[in-house]
Amino acid sequence: MARVLVAVTGGVAAIKAPHLLRLLRAQGHEVRVLATPRALEFITPLSLAVAAGGEVATEEAWFRPDGRALHIELARWAEVVLVAPATADAMAKAALGLADDLLSATLLAGAKRVAWAPAMNEAMWLAPKTQEHARTLEAMGHALFGPAYGPLAAVGEGEGWGRMLEPEELLERLQALLTPKDLKGLKLLVSAGPTREYLDPVRFLSNPSSGRMGYAVAEAARDRGAEVVLVSGPTTLPAPWGVEVVRVESALEMREAILGRYSWAQAVVMAAAVADYRPAEVSREKEPKVAAEKVLRLLPNPDILKELGENKGPRVLVGFAMETGEGLARAKEKLLRKNLDLIVLNWVNREGVGFGSLENEVVLLLRDGRVLELPRMKKRQVADRILDLVKEFWKG
Ligand code: C5P
Repeated sequence: MARVLVAVTGGVAAIKAPHLLRLLRAQGHEVRVLATPRALEFITPLSLAVAAGGEVATEEAWFRPDGRALHIELARWAEVVLVAPATADAMAKAALGLADDLLSATLLAGAKRVAWAPAMNEAMWLAPKTQEHARTLEAMGHALFGPAYGPLAAVGEGEGWGRMLEPEELLERLQALLTPKDLKGLKLLVSAGPTREYLDPVRFLSNPSSGRMGYAVAEAARDRGAEVVLVSGPTTLPAPWGVEVVRVESALEMREAILGRYSWAQAVVMAAAVADYRPAEVSREKEPKVAAEKVLRLLPNPDILKELGENKGPRVLVGFAMETGEGLARAKEKLLRKNLDLIVLNWVNREGVGFGSLENEVVLLLRDGRVLELPRMKKRQVADRILDLVKEFWKG
C-alpha cells in the first residue's frame, strides 16, 4: 500500500475523481487530493474532500500563513502522484519543467513516481506536441495510463482516442506500477480457458472452465515485469492490457498456437482445460435433429503439455490437474509422465473453488518432491505463489 496523491486537472473526467479516491482508499492506500482551479469548474472541493477523507490542496492553499510550502510537502509525502484526469496542458508543463502552479511545482519538486491518466479530445492527444511531451515524460520515468479509445466528451465528437481509463482500470495500473519487477526478462507462455470441439457449425463439446486461473497468472506475471503471451480458449473475460492475447477455439488450434511460440518461451503455464476428445466426424452443415438414438465417435486430442515436456530443454513447465479422491497420487504421476517442474492440483466438486469461481484451493506438487498445500485464497494470490516457484526454477 502506498501514499498516493491524486492530482485532478480540468477535464470533464474530473467527475470520476471521487470514485477513484474511494477505490484507492478501499484498497488500503493513503490518499491526498490536489485540484487545479480548472478542475474545480467540473467538480466541487467538497465532493473531493469527502471522497479523499481530508482537505483538498488548491492553488489558494499553496503558500501557507505559517510559511510552509505545500508543493514541497506534497512532493515529499507522496510515493506516487497520479494525475487523473490529466490535461494536455498539465503534461506539457511537466515535460518542460515549468512550475508556475501547485501541481507543476509539486512535480518539479521531486515527486518520486508520477503516473498520468490523459483525458482530452483525440485531436489534442494525437497532436505532435502532446505526443512529444508524452514521450518526454516516459523518458523521465513517468508512467502513462491510457488514454483509451471510446466515446469522447464534447458534444458531437463521437468516438476516438483520448478517453480517460475508468477508475477501476487506473487502480489496476497503479497496482502494477507498485509491484516489484522480479520477473523482468522472463518470457512466459500461458494457456487458459476451455476448448470447443465442434460437431457441426452450432454444436460443440466443451467444459465450464472460465479461464480465470490462467488470466490471473498472465496478469500477475505482467505486473511482475514478465513478457507474457496468453493463448486463450473462448471466455467472457476482457483481454488483459499489456499481454499479447491469442484467441483459439479447438484443442488443435491451441496446440498450433502454443507450439508456434514454444521456442520463444522460457516458461509455460498450461492452465487451459483442453478437451480430451474431439468428434471424429465434423459436419459442415447443421446436423438435422433425428428421433433415433445417435452415437458419437470421438478421437483423442493430442496432449499438448506432454509434447512440450518431451522437448523441454531449459524451460520451466507448469501443468494443472483437476482431480477427485485419490488426486495426489494421480497428480504426481502426471508431473512425472509429462516431465513438468510443477503441477497445480485442483479439487473437483469442492464448493466455492475451482471452475468459474474467484477463489481456489490447491496443492502444489514439485519435481523435487515438495508438496505445498495452500489454504483457500483468491486466484490472483494462487497465481503469485505459482509464479514464485516458476521464478525459483527459472533462476535455477
Ligand atoms: O492429463 P490431464 O488432462 O489431467 O492433464 C492436465 C494438464 O495437461 C493441464 O495442464 C492441461 O492444460 C494439459 N493438457 C494438455 N493437452 C491435453 C490435455 C491436457 O496440454 N490434450
